Amino acid sequence: AKVTFVDHDGTKHEVEAPIGNNLMEIAVNNNIAGIDGDCGGMAACATCHVTVDPAWYAKTGARSEAEESMLTFLPEIAETARLGCQIEMTEELDGLVLHLPVEQF
Ligand code: FES
Repeated sequence: AKVTFVDHDGTKHEVEAPIGNNLMEIAVNNNIAGIDGDCGGMAACATCHVTVDPAWYAKTGARSEAEESMLTFLPEIAETARLGCQIEMTEELDGLVLHLPVEQF
């Protein structure tokens, strides 16, 4: 499957997204700038914050409680904000588009 990360300046990075990996791992493995994954995917650092393209948001599932509370620490988030590590790649998400928040650069 594939996902596309879109930089704040509009640059697109389409990368291979193995099923079962989470979106933070996929970003880190592809050196996507702006996604660090400092906590290793524990929903405890918010350095994997992404804005899900609105067309895809419903498919990514619901935020967990830990995720919800991490997101409240960020200065500004979109309605479709998620932690990348809390979204697991599935066949259904093939073609997913994620936007990278400008403050993470
Ligand atoms: Fe730390 Fe996702 S990697 S919250």
